[in-house]
Amino acid sequence: MPTTRSDVGNLLLGGLDLAAVVAETGAGTPSYVYDLDAIAAEARALALAFEGAPHLVAYAVKANSAGLVLRALAGEGCGADVVSGAELALALACAIPPDRIVYSGVAKLDPEIDRAIGCGERGIGAIQLESVEEIARVEARAAAQGRRVRVSARINPAAPASSLETHAHIATGHDEAKFGIPIDDVGAALDRIAKAPHVELVGLSVHIGSQLTSTGAYAAAAREVFRIARHLRGARAASLAFVDTGGGFGVDYEGTRGAVVRPADFVRAARVIQREEGLEDLALYVEPGRSLVAAHGVLVARVVQEKHATGRSGERRWLMIDAGMNDLIRPALYQARHRIVPLVAERGPTLPWRVVGPVCESSDDFGEHELPRAPGEHVAILDAGAYGFTMASAYNGRALPAEIFLAGGRVAHVSARATEERWVRERLM
Ligand code: LLP
Repeated sequence: MPTTRSDVGNLLLGGLDLAAVVAETGAGTPSYVYDLDAIAAEARALALAFEGAPHLVAYAVKANSAGLVLRALAGEGCGADVVSGAELALALACAIPPDRIVYSGVAKLDPEIDRAIGCGERGIGAIQLESVEEIARVEARAAAQGRRVRVSARINPAAPASSLETHAHIATGHDEAKFGIPIDDVGAALDRIAKAPHVELVGLSVHIGSQLTSTGAYAAAAREVFRIARHLRGARAASLAFVDTGGGFGVDYEGTRGAVVRPADFVRAARVIQREEGLEDLALYVEPGRSLVAAHGVLVARVVQEKHATGRSGERRWLMIDAGMNDLIRPALYQARHRIVPLVAERGPTLPWRVVGPVCESSDDFGEHELPRAPGEHVAILDAGAYGFTMASAYNGRALPAEIFLAGGRVAHVSARATEERWVRERLM
């Protein structure tokens, strides 16, 4: 469950009082806090949408790569979608079986490809090929290891960019994107794969973008890929075992529950098309990242000071907190809006506050939020469990934030923040 309030108005995550968690762990602020039980429950709820049909939920590790999160999801039967050799090593170390790992990425390095080919008895579940050119590279690396590696062709369906309904930075399934094998080159790509003795085509995939808020474009892309799968089945690829319709299931950042489609709705939409194309014997793979973790993480920040000014166009009121765009870059990068609430709810009138961080950029701005006249010591930035810590940086000499993991109604683990001393030492060289 995402955050709730106690009887006396304190903000709870995983049933625990966040103000007490931050104080008692000594983790300080800014700190990410995650509810591992709710993340596991999210994966269980998604699995139900497959109704027992063969499937794989390949969690997109980039959304939140904490080992405890990966282990919680692995415990629910999730696999992993990785995009680097390091993410692959991490997934393996978190006991995700190689067979349940797919590897996406437009510019995989040779040592990364080698690692994917070399692990387990047959390499990973599939290297997702993102260009015609990549086929020869993977074939050569597999030949060098004397192995036959499983691959899938990630198709770029050239969806009209306007249909993708998401921020341009995270739309991937249109004609100008660097991702996937262009739909018009798929025939040539499949011919090359068929002629490459060390690669075996086991899947077709697509991922059109992230933070999708309706199933229309997702279903249209799934249709394209299932159609190609049907033709392939009829023709030559007896080895085809799955279709992967990607991730991108949007999250309700505004908190208007019910207004946004649920992750399971995307799975159901893909399954309808799978049935219509008569391909129910294939496994359906999906690659959700954000939807499994976003709502179950918050970023707790301390209020550093207020600033009031009589601007030329009216009164200005800033609330300056100790979390900045280096800790959570989504507002600066995608104009994303995350709700901000006090840890201890105050009764009485609220005011619109411009909540900003300490970083020396005007984009270090979390937007305007209704908060109490006296906002208290701490605030929480909600829905920060995805693409928060994984995109954090040490910009402005700011140490990476701490991370606190909750499970079973208690604090399961605290990862301390990087220290300023370490940053200074490293930059001194
Ligand atoms: N599969 C592939 C091949 C991807 O590239 C991605 C995300 C996913 C799955 C998972 O997508 P999700 O279910 O999380 O939407 N930093 C951005 C999002 C970047 C997404 C990159 N690819 C943000 O904070 O909104």
